[in-house]
Amino acid sequence: MSAEAVGIESVGFYVPRYFVDMRRLAAARGADPDKYVHGLGQHKMCVAPPDEDVVTMGASAAHLALRDVDESEIDSVFFATESGVDQSKAAAIYVHRLLGLPSACKTVEFKQACASSTVALLAARALVASGMDRKVLVVAADVARYELGSPGEPTQGAGAVALVVSRQPRIMSLEEGHGAHTEDVMDFWRPNYRREALVDGKYSIKVYIRSLCEAWKRYHAATGRAFADHQRFCYHLPFTRMAEKAHAHLVVTATGKHAAREEMGRHIDAGLVYNREIGNTYTASLYIALCSLLENEELPASGRIGMFAYGSGCLGIFFSGLLTAGYREFLHREEHLRQLRERTELSVAEYERMYHFRLPEDGRRFEVPVHRTGPFRLAGVENHQRIYEGTRPRVRPDTQSQHPVAAETTC
Ligand code: HMG
Repeated sequence: MSAEAVGIESVGFYVPRYFVDMRRLAAARGADPDKYVHGLGQHKMCVAPPDEDVVTMGASAAHLALRDVDESEIDSVFFATESGVDQSKAAAIYVHRLLGLPSACKTVEFKQACASSTVALLAARALVASGMDRKVLVVAADVARYELGSPGEPTQGAGAVALVVSRQPRIMSLEEGHGAHTEDVMDFWRPNYRREALVDGKYSIKVYIRSLCEAWKRYHAATGRAFADHQRFCYHLPFTRMAEKAHAHLVVTATGKHAAREEMGRHIDAGLVYNREIGNTYTASLYIALCSLLENEELPASGRIGMFAYGSGCLGIFFSGLLTAGYREFLHREEHLRQLRERTELSVAEYERMYHFRLPEDGRRFEVPVHRTGPFRLAGVENHQRIYEGTRPRVRPDTQSQHPVAAETTC
């Protein structure tokens, strides 16, 4: 690793403790199960219970990512989401308190559909490289929600990922140079008054692919790196078959030739394993795919990973990273597998009940029923404020208190 290297020191994800099996969902919707399982490439989708939101999921992912990291060096917390819980206050501030991070931190929320996590990651890299910050915690969390019974429904999911960016990139250094593509399109959007996204599904796939090809060309022009310089490729995964479609187009754009299915599989398959079990997690999806790649295949040090982020609306970004020698030692593979294994299956009726749950919007006090969660949960609301709590003794006691800042100001 070069003395200048900046990149991912640690990465951990968190998924809700509940899932729906895609074959059961297909049966309930009168669809052929093979369409969901093979056509879309999804086996299960995670469902967030009423006491989970992007804050609890993001804090739980960060709790894992920070396990062997010196938290006193975290100078910024960047939170990427398109399922935010407040129009003004950044979810990063709740996470910052739940984790007991230093008050000298900067905290902010980023938004541009699924791509904002990558803008946050590249900004974190630049801050650390410039010497302004020592470490940046990047958190990405989302709940993917479409209308029940709509074509988008089987591409839902929920989850969060957290990455620590520093000058000790024990997992992957982030390379200089990227390619971006922005275009004003209405392929997927969610007006402020809606809980479910609106989407022009087939069009969104076309725009995803166009953005990939444009971003790749700019990345190639900026860095001189050719397709063959990349050992593996990771994609934003709204559903896993999207990566197959996208990669086939990238191969042709970048090499002028078609690749055999087997060769394409070598490039992308290990990165698809987790998302197939989780579903779309919007901002978190690309980095859960990265965990999937690194935890399901052993790759040589300095192997280059090409990464494509896509956020509807739209923004595409192609960038790359180099694996660090010994990176496998710092992954949280066992914890990730445990989370996936220990989920509770919901019937379609139970999932629909969770889907329809709504917090009161009139400011009255309301306690959210307890479900299975990670180390943090949404305990309730009062006076239009969300009340979060830790669920385990190892969580610092001050995270249990909801209004610790009510003390008089002394300067
Ligand atoms: P649809 O119309 O229900 O499905 O919508 P379809 O008819 O296109 O079928 C899907 C695939 O299943 C096809 O495969 C069928 O042939 C196959 P393909 O031809 O494309 O290879 N199929 C079958 N296979 C086996 N056995 C069968 C069978 N029947 C059909 N019996 C769509 C699919 C993805 C459009 C829909 O689910 C949707 O609208 N999803 C939400 C939007 C989305 O995921 N877009 C992806 C790109 S945009 C993006 O990634 C951004 C996003 O993450 C948001 C953000 O940025 O914030 C969404």
